[in-house]
Amino acid sequence: MLPRFICLLLLWGSSCFGFKSFQQRIPNGDMVPHSCKPNFLWHGLGHENELGGGARNSFGLDFAAAGLKWTKELCEKDSDGDGRTNGQELGDPNCTWKENSTPETNQGLSHPGVCEPHDSDLCKPKNTWLNCELESFKCDAIKSPEVKNLTIRFPNTSVPNFETNYFCMTFDLPTDGDYHVIAMTPVIDNVNVMHHILLFGCDSDKQGEASGPTACEMGSVQCNTLFGAWTVGSAGQCLYHEAGIRIGQKGIKRVLMQVHWNNPEMRDDYSDSSGMTLHYTPKLRPNSAVMLMVGQWYLEIPPGRERHAESAVCSKEDTHRLLTGPIKIVRALNHMHYLGREESLEIIRNEKRIAYVTNETTYSYDRPKFVTISPPLEIQPGDEIKTTCVFKSKNKKKTTFSGRGTSDEMCLGFMVVFPAENLLSRTCATWRSLSLTKLYRDLNPYGCNITNFFNLSHPDTRPLLEKLENNCKPFSICLEECKEVVKEVRKHPCLSGDVGKYIVHRAAQMFNGDFPRFLSLLQSCDVEMLKDKQVQRLTNNNESSGSVSPRRHLELIVSFLCVTLILLI
Ligand SMILES: *[C@@H]1O[C@H](CO)[C@@H](O)[C@H](O)[C@H]1NC(C)=O
Ligand SMILES: *[C@@H]1O[C@H](CO)[C@@H](O)[C@H](O)[C@H]1NC(C)=O
Ligand SMILES: *[C@@H]1O[C@H](CO)[C@@H](O)[C@H](O)[C@H]1NC(C)=O
Ligand SMILES: *[C@@H]1O[C@H](CO)[C@@H](O)[C@H](O)[C@H]1NC(C)=O
Ligand SMILES: *[C@@H]1O[C@H](CO)[C@@H](O)[C@H](O)[C@H]1NC(C)=O
Ligand SMILES: *[C@@H]1O[C@H](CO)[C@@H](O)[C@H](O)[C@H]1NC(C)=O
Ligand SMILES: *[C@@H]1O[C@H](CO)[C@@H](O)[C@H](O)[C@H]1NC(C)=O
Repeated sequence: MLPRFICLLLLWGSSCFGFKSFQQRIPNGDMVPHSCKPNFLWHGLGHENELGGGARNSFGLDFAAAGLKWTKELCEKDSDGDGRTNGQELGDPNCTWKENSTPETNQGLSHPGVCEPHDSDLCKPKNTWLNCELESFKCDAIKSPEVKNLTIRFPNTSVPNFETNYFCMTFDLPTDGDYHVIAMTPVIDNVNVMHHILLFGCDSDKQGEASGPTACEMGSVQCNTLFGAWTVGSAGQCLYHEAGIRIGQKGIKRVLMQVHWNNPEMRDDYSDSSGMTLHYTPKLRPNSAVMLMVGQWYLEIPPGRERHAESAVCSKEDTHRLLTGPIKIVRALNHMHYLGREESLEIIRNEKRIAYVTNETTYSYDRPKFVTISPPLEIQPGDEIKTTCVFKSKNKKKTTFSGRGTSDEMCLGFMVVFPAENLLSRTCATWRSLSLTKLYRDLNPYGCNITNFFNLSHPDTRPLLEKLENNCKPFSICLEECKEVVKEVRKHPCLSGDVGKYIVHRAAQMFNGDFPRFLSLLQSCDVEMLKDKQVQRLTNNNESSGSVSPRRHLELIVSFLCVTLILLI
């Protein structure tokens, strides 16, 4: 154990932690669901306070008595007296789990220190300390007499029996005046499935969006101005007093409400009619506010990691592209999914960090912390916004990618900023090192016009396809004459570097048109070309061995020693 730890320390330096929380000494210790708040996790497993600290619950007392260790005796005990042993509640029914190993299951977990079902006749008397109340909402501004409200919500709709469901519906906003929305509060009907709500403003002159609840994608072409959000655990948002979100005659006239229902048990008997209440005022505030999204769209998180960091930078060039003047941030929200542990958003000016917008070291998907930035923080054109996300994939057996599902991951940051007129686009995100702002806003970014490239009948792309068609066969039959052609075609700016990876990634999601065929021709010699490369590397070996840098050399020795040690243990 110790040598392995030292190895990790040597290899990864500061990213390796000696610190072990109690959560790690208990099977599935960081995945235990809350007993009476659906979709919440119980973080301080041994405590009466779900966030930890203070009085211990019955499981916490037994855990302490066992020397803060997961013993067979503790595993076989039923600390909360609800008829399930601690091991059964925590996914270790046979009491075989050892620290750092993967528990037998992570399905059907329950709390070992709370008698469940929490409101049954048996449990009620034991759970007098249990707190089922959610955070309360404070916003004095909505008490002003001129403030009106509008509740938009789904009609009672049945929730499909899929794990992840996105449903959308559009609503008309009042157009009898010019208003600022100053607060939003959730109206949650079915707490068992409600995960988050996003509100997007729509181009008012376009039609065709869902007039009733319809299954939908993450975004919409006509409704793409994100301006409001609710996630599990939040009681609502109250806007900074100098700014509001413009609706009505001179603002957003229609909204698309997108609801994410999470139904991991895939039940088919759930229905929901959740929504949001918008609080709006005709007394306009001095500024209009909008939401700016930053982050990394490409994630690849290896399994079994205690810590895996990803980052993204909205660069100097990007903020010059996006901003016509300074903007101020008043609120911010980190967004990852279940593997997320830490996230920060930093503002960097002249290579120096001037402030953290968010800095969460105990991130939890269930407890979104919409932070209020007071006084508001200014971003100038030429500043950088850096997003850093840290994931823990200890319990995962497979690589996790970015995606919309709850078992996929995200690394995003949302910021409410004003004045709206200084911001030309609402997102500044990257895909690996690529600036999507640049890719979609510049005329010829990275020498590649992505719109034209995806159009295989466009004169820029047509010759590439023809060359491939004439020399290659699709679906991995590699022709000798194809190799050279592929090498040449891959030199195209749209197919090289990260742009090329992005295009291939996007193309792999396309199911119609000629592009999949283009891709299969392009990739038909991949394996053979890789083999050729290896043969070449072996023949070249004599020259490269003399030029290994001293640092690389040290790393190789350390890795070699580590592998040896690990094999010996
Ligand atoms: C756990 O015990 C059950 C029943 O006793 C058995 O079917 C199962 O194979 C055991 N699992 C392991 C991993 O030993
Ligand atoms: C909406 O406004 C009405 C009065 O116009 C008020 O009675 C009601 O409580 C408000 N609803 C919310 C959710 O604030
Ligand atoms: C909602 O609809 C479901 C059937 O789809 C029904 O069982 C349920 O009672 C309805 N709920 C309300 C509040 O009307
Ligand atoms: C970020 O949070 C951690 C833990 O709360 C704290 O130690 C650190 O100083 C914070 N950094 C900044 C710049 O606020
Ligand atoms: C690509 O080029 C076309 C003209 O050929 C232009 O209209 C379009 O805006 C360009 N697309 C991007 C993303 O720059
Ligand atoms: C593709 O390019 C051709 C030739 O430039 C053009 O006529 C056609 O409209 C383009 N198709 C799309 C969908 O943009
Ligand atoms: C080793 O490298 C030299 C040039 O650096 C080359 O001429 C020679 O062929 C190489 N030897 C082998 C066995 O590849």
